[in-house]
Amino acid sequence: MVRLEKVSKTYGRGSAMVRALNEVSLEVAKGESLAVMGPSGSGKSTLLHLLAGLDAPSSGEIYLDGAPISRMSDDEITVFRRRNIGFVFQFFNLLPTLSAEENVALPLLLDGQGMKSARPKAARMLELVGLGHRRLHRPDELSGGEAQRVAIARALAFEPALLIADEPTGNLDSRSGEEVLSLIRDLAQRYRLTVVMVTHDRRAAAYSGRIVMLKDGELAPQGASALKAAR
Ligand SMILES: Nc1ncnc2c1ncn2[C@@H]1O[C@H](COP(=O)(O)OP(=O)(O)OP(=O)(O)O)[C@@H](O)[C@H]1O
Ligand SMILES: [Mg+2]
Repeated sequence: MVRLEKVSKTYGRGSAMVRALNEVSLEVAKGESLAVMGPSGSGKSTLLHLLAGLDAPSSGEIYLDGAPISRMSDDEITVFRRRNIGFVFQFFNLLPTLSAEENVALPLLLDGQGMKSARPKAARMLELVGLGHRRLHRPDELSGGEAQRVAIARALAFEPALLIADEPTGNLDSRSGEEVLSLIRDLAQRYRLTVVMVTHDRRAAAYSGRIVMLKDGELAPQGASALKAAR
């Protein structure tokens, strides 16, 4: 489903150059749930941005379901991302002036669907995350956990094959965090989603089928050390 081949990413140049990722190779199978852990600055967000096509690698290739996203043009990747990849952020990234339903409908509208078909789809996604009754609330009228569930509904509006989450529980209290994690796990099982989640939270990692550790832009050898870190 996801394949990274010797992916490197450097930012800046000369003495200001930062090597955020160094020849990272990784495969994630369809339906697999992967947690990426590692210290601050180790390249976790960089990895997710590249996976989502929000940024391009400096070298190496990235394939999603066989599609070489690292070689797509900006226009191609924008459409591909919208239809195939759901992204959930630590700080929700909901538009404050829109209702929950409008936030979820937005990617559908941007893709050219009319409000008439987008609105009922958005309402259905909100039901799915248990927020049908908060449909018309704006983000500032929602709790953090509810806001993150709206963001998950938005990420899944296109029924993507891949869900990417960057510290989805980082801004939530532990109970809302658990709710969000079990929601992601249930949806992933139901729709056979592939999930790649960055987290500092050991409990969050425990919801994943596999854990990899990044350190200084490199993947640590897998096995006992990763398991120990997750405990
Ligand atoms: N746009 C950028 N320009 C220059 N350097 C950057 C940029 N984005 C990230 N970096 C650097 O790349 C390295 C990896 O950053 P990244 O954000 O991927 O780390 P992270 O593992 O997500 O950390 P955290 O746990 O703090 O979120 C860091 O040294 C960071 O300073
Ligand atoms: Mg980060």
